[in-house]
Amino acid sequence: MKRFLTLLAASLLSGAASIAVAQTADEPIQIIQPPKSINLGMVELGKKLYFDPRLSKSGFISCNSCHNLSMGGTDNIPTSIGDQWQQGPINAPTVLNSSLNVAQFWDGRAGDLKAQAGGPIANPGEMAFTHTLALGVLESIPAYVREFKQVFGKDKVDIDQVTAAIAEFEKTLVTPNSRFDQWLLGKKDALTADEQKGYALFKDTGCVACHNGEAVGGNSFQKMGVVEAFKKDDPATGRFAVTGKDADRFNYKVPTLRNVEYTYPYFHDGSANTLTEAVRTMGRIQLGKDFTADETRQVVAFLKTLTGDMPQFTMPVLPPSSDATPRPQPFPPKAAPAPAPKK
Ligand code: HEC
Ligand code: HEC
Repeated sequence: MKRFLTLLAASLLSGAASIAVAQTADEPIQIIQPPKSINLGMVELGKKLYFDPRLSKSGFISCNSCHNLSMGGTDNIPTSIGDQWQQGPINAPTVLNSSLNVAQFWDGRAGDLKAQAGGPIANPGEMAFTHTLALGVLESIPAYVREFKQVFGKDKVDIDQVTAAIAEFEKTLVTPNSRFDQWLLGKKDALTADEQKGYALFKDTGCVACHNGEAVGGNSFQKMGVVEAFKKDDPATGRFAVTGKDADRFNYKVPTLRNVEYTYPYFHDGSANTLTEAVRTMGRIQLGKDFTADETRQVVAFLKTLTGDMPQFTMPVLPPSSDATPRPQPFPPKAAPAPAPKK
């Protein structure tokens, strides 16, 4: 009898598991998997570099300045602030789950995270350094030199190692276990009735045509303004800037909607302040659909269930500069004093 019950329980359990699997397979959105294989030494080093402002000319700006991991991996302002308070041209996307993207940047000009990571250091509007100067800083700090050698087994620090380590750290910035993922896995009470209605609207009206997969986006380039133009005077051209093909004009990488309640303001120009506004605009210009207030509320409620477990880690303690470390240049050089007037 006991044996029979055990068997029965086992078959019920495996039944439940196969229902859950079948259900996820049918859905246009999949649960987020934890990263498959990571090199822990590289992750720890990459984490330090991610938080180290000494990779910028001013000594003040780190990756985390614009991709703040306490704020959903973004800066929550329309366009970023770079070296000497320069106004950036475009909204900073989140680094959370960026390893799931088909390519990096709104126009996809970097193929992967490693190719992306060298960009901001040398971008005059962002960290405004050069790779050579950044390497000079790292090589002047004995604890960094030791750690690079330990991780990469080479005598010299190079930019390839820097970008590889940062990319490895970024691979760990996934956010599994959202309420929506729990629901996908069969936990029926993980979503309220309104949230489920919002998901039904998200599927039925066609949002899932572009926002799908593990990241609910990030896997294709699509036109911004399918039914109605986004903005008549939009100077940005999107993917056209990379391919030069007319068909790619105003195409952007579809942003992930994971953790979207944290990543305001929205769109490549940061012009939508709230999720409500972004959802209404999307409905209208992508699908020709005017959501009612109730429908908008339900879609927004669904989108908020996509917030997952944020990466948890100990804040890195960065090794101190040495006497040989070049000093930061936070301000423009002072103009030479005017020559004293001749008497
Ligand atoms: C001054 C602000 C700023 C700094 C500093 C900065 N970024 Fe960014 N980051 C941006 C902006 C803005 C974009 C979007 C640019 C574009 O698409 O043209 C971006 C894009 C990205 C992307 C692509 C995400 C996606 O979905 O396409 C990643 C990944 C990223 N940054 C990582 C980093 C790393 C790593 C560092 C440090 C080495 C860094 N960023 C430093 C502002 C910044
Ligand atoms: C034809 C493809 C397509 C469809 C359909 C679509 N989207 Fe989008 N979505 C995009 C693209 C592309 C962007 C980024 C556009 C930009 O910023 O220029 C975007 C951006 C967003 C954003 C802002 C995210 C951010 O981080 O800036 C939200 C929210 C959003 N979509 C929700 C929706 C909802 C809800 C629907 C259904 C009503 C929908 N989308 C339908 C392609 C699409």
